[in-house]
Amino acid sequence: MARTLTITRPDDWHLHLRDGAMLKGILPETARDFARAIIMPNLVPPVVTAKHAAAYRNRIMAALPKGSDFQPLMTLYLTEETDPADVASAFTGGLITAVKLYPAGATTHSASGVKDFNRVMPVLEKMAEVGCTLCVHGEVTDPDIDIFDREAVFIDRILDPLRRRIPELRITMEHMTTKDAVDYIAAEENIAGSITTHHLIINRNHILVGGIKPHYYCLPVAKRELHRQALLAAATSGEAKYFLGTDSAPHTDPNKESACGCAGVFSATNTMPCLAHVYEAENALDKLESFASQNGPAHYRLPVNSGKIVLAKQDDPVTFPAKIETGEGSVTVFDPGFPIHWRVA
Ligand code: DOR
Ligand code: ZN
Repeated sequence: MARTLTITRPDDWHLHLRDGAMLKGILPETARDFARAIIMPNLVPPVVTAKHAAAYRNRIMAALPKGSDFQPLMTLYLTEETDPADVASAFTGGLITAVKLYPAGATTHSASGVKDFNRVMPVLEKMAEVGCTLCVHGEVTDPDIDIFDREAVFIDRILDPLRRRIPELRITMEHMTTKDAVDYIAAEENIAGSITTHHLIINRNHILVGGIKPHYYCLPVAKRELHRQALLAAATSGEAKYFLGTDSAPHTDPNKESACGCAGVFSATNTMPCLAHVYEAENALDKLESFASQNGPAHYRLPVNSGKIVLAKQDDPVTFPAKIETGEGSVTVFDPGFPIHWRVA
């Protein structure tokens, strides 16, 4: 039985596009379905100044398929050397949409992140003044904290104290993986949270039971099932506090399938079909548009897209490419573990 769902064209509020041949290879996967995406600044070296962001934006625009109107929303990587004036002018001039906080050492290419929060207070105060959002990778890096607890501990030790110091600062708690994050955000002002496609689908068993699955490994790592259930409830609630940020993060297959594999799930190719499946299974297809297309722009105080996409359901499962070939090597596409009958028409 054919069935379709038309929604406002979605945005991806957390995306890794990399650079060079990888950028060229994977950018079409996002530009096909999404109107805009917040572009993560964790290149090597990271995007730390307005000048870097402008140059990176130009490289993204040059890599876009002909005729695409995809819009990259740039971010700066917060370091202890970030200049408040540079951030303020990049934001008010429309070059950047947000600033990204990585606690030093938390994840891929985060070595330049923040160790001493006192040293970034002037930047954060300036951002609160001009209305620039802080995107947060919410994990502590202390070696004594269990990796499955790092998000919950971050909320208590870092996020909440920071918010007490600057309550006006607008924050996105990115790629939430815990009920703790969902509950914290529900109760607070000036903070919203993004949720990835894969964290709505996998829990930690999917990574570890029956053999290790490197393509399901990302940071923050997927937690136990009760947390996935909380994310699912939040995402399908329609609440304005929760929106899509895929954290689609390509690494070549040799870098994933390794004795020390990189963190990152690449879901750009099939995110909207996967979400349609998840929302249908939850009897919440009417909430997909708020999650993917409306709540994000509201949080970032941007207009909702004017275009539409049509999701179509078919009897036979849709075949998505297992891998995307790039000039740097192949990148494995997220496998939800069940057949998907939806596609973007
Ligand atoms: O899994 C992840 N991959 N988490 C991050 O925070 C970074 C990302 C990447 O850049 O590969
Ligand atoms: Zn990320």
